[in-house]
Amino acid sequence: MPPVNIAVAGAGVIGRAHIAVIAQSSQCRLSAIADPSEAAQALAQTHGVPWFATLDQLLTTASPDGVILATPNALHVPQALQCIAAGVPVLVEKPIAHTVADAQKLVQATQAHQAKVLIGHHRAHSPIMREAKAVIDDGRLGQLVSVVGSAMFYKPDDYFTQAPWRREAGGGPILINLIHEIHNLRMLCGEIAQVQAMTSNAVRGFAVEDTASITFRFASGVLASFMLSDTAASARSWEQTSQENKAYASYDDEDCYVIAGTMGSLSVPTMRLKTYAKAEDRSWFKPYDISTVALQREDPLRLQMDHFIRVIQGLDAPLVSAHDGLQNLRVVEAIAQAAASQQTVRLSEA
Ligand SMILES: NC(=O)c1ccc[n+]([C@@H]2O[C@H](COP(=O)([O-])OP(=O)(O)OC[C@H]3O[C@@H](n4cnc5c(N)ncnc54)[C@H](O)[C@@H]3O)[C@@H](O)[C@H]2O)c1
Repeated sequence: MPPVNIAVAGAGVIGRAHIAVIAQSSQCRLSAIADPSEAAQALAQTHGVPWFATLDQLLTTASPDGVILATPNALHVPQALQCIAAGVPVLVEKPIAHTVADAQKLVQATQAHQAKVLIGHHRAHSPIMREAKAVIDDGRLGQLVSVVGSAMFYKPDDYFTQAPWRREAGGGPILINLIHEIHNLRMLCGEIAQVQAMTSNAVRGFAVEDTASITFRFASGVLASFMLSDTAASARSWEQTSQENKAYASYDDEDCYVIAGTMGSLSVPTMRLKTYAKAEDRSWFKPYDISTVALQREDPLRLQMDHFIRVIQGLDAPLVSAHDGLQNLRVVEAIAQAAASQQTVRLSEA
């Protein structure tokens, strides 16, 4: 099969990461870049591909097989709608949109046009998530009961001086970081029905939260407790434990999730499994069978690209649909609302 032509709109931090993955792939090639910046124009020259100041020009001139949208959040939906109108499959970076109302527009257009839309929650493609989900789905943990999760890390102080908007409402870890965790939790435990949250800015003292404690109730009845902080000097985050992004310091003895069921528990991503062999063995006085789930580590961004190619070719349905993107955004907004109101917020489907 000839390589699939993929164009990238938005050649900033994550756009360049996608371009690097495309450059390593034998199944696809970079066909064009759309980004008004001079840096992007220079990058297009380096890769020997056409450069366009706008996505509109790219779509009418370059006829790509697929487009990756790695542009600022507010552009995701209008640009995805342009791709749908042009009949071009699109990978939209997370979050799907900057508002739920905008995300709903994209979900409706995706359904109306039977469009190929993949949302860039790339951890969904991680072998860690695949194996954790397999352990749950094959019943090794029994009936799921509870999850303890964390995303605790220390963002360097210059992160806040370089971009002062990060100190203001909306610039904190709930809106910036949590959406990745929400997709992981939904993948593992199903739909989230209710949330409660408490936030604190006691350490950094900015208008925005630096720490949040969140409680989830899933539609299945599973409860999860999640601690989020960008000012806790702890390794208990996906970034620092998964070993998937070499930019972060890495600790192979720490976990970010513990998933517990009626027959056992799985710690992620060390993949340590503690289970009872038989239902009648279950007692806190008796030892568990202890094992480690085998894991072949692979770069989820690369696996996401392979999947996007299969979506373009009509071989796979999007693993992370526009509807997933909308639900993830809804949960994040519900958490922000729960923290502000100190009320339990219920989520509706659809
Ligand atoms: N999946 C992940 O882990 C991950 C990581 C980082 C960022 N992101 C997401 O990717 C998106 C981009 O983030 P970033 O950190 O790369 O931002 P960035 O600011 O580094 O890059 C954005 C790029 O878009 C370009 N741009 C602006 N307007 C444009 C337009 N009209 N058409 C085309 N290009 C335009 C800018 O010139 C810039 O180069 C955001 O939605 C962000 O949430 C996802």
